[in-house]
Amino acid sequence: MKTAVIYYSYEGNCALIAELIKNVLEADLIELRTADDKKRQGFSKYLWGGRQVIMKETPSLKPYTVDPEAYDLIIIGTPVWAANPTPALNTFLGEQRIRNKKIALFCCHAGGKGKVFDKIKNKLPGNTFAGEIDFINPAKQERQEVVNKLNAWIKGL
Ligand SMILES: Cc1cc2nc3c(=O)[nH]c(=O)nc-3n(C[C@H](O)[C@H](O)[C@H](O)COP(=O)(O)O)c2cc1C
Repeated sequence: MKTAVIYYSYEGNCALIAELIKNVLEADLIELRTADDKKRQGFSKYLWGGRQVIMKETPSLKPYTVDPEAYDLIIIGTPVWAANPTPALNTFLGEQRIRNKKIALFCCHAGGKGKVFDKIKNKLPGNTFAGEIDFINPAKQERQEVVNKLNAWIKGL
């Protein structure tokens, strides 16, 4: 099954999950990166990111290449920002027309994922959803536990 993992990661957690999926499924990784990739710290990071979510901003992305038709399974991952998918993922979903695909979703968060999966699904009509999984800051968790949880999920896709 040819698989793509399309993800955004600001601080490495979703990138970790994407890499772990790649290890198992030999998936192609497509990292979404914003044109402005300056790293903010502390409180200003939450203000900056939260504002983008509230204003429904769709920041420009660095050039990326993806051909959804080339894949049997597309796994999409995002951090949760202010109980929403990240603005970067929203940009991607607005730019691409993905239809009639098998899709699985993952997100990383700090304990409050809200309705993030429903919000992503609403932007991907006409697709089949094979599964969803969330992780609480996995880069800070026991690695083997993360791997075990992820691999059990992958088996069910
Ligand atoms: C701007 C901003 C807003 C966030 N909002 C939430 C939130 O609403 N709920 C939550 O559980 N975590 C929230 N977080 C924490 C991240 O979702 C969490 O640390 C995630 O693992 C980061 O993924 P990444 O390392 O791939 O960027 C927020 C982080 C940032 C930077």
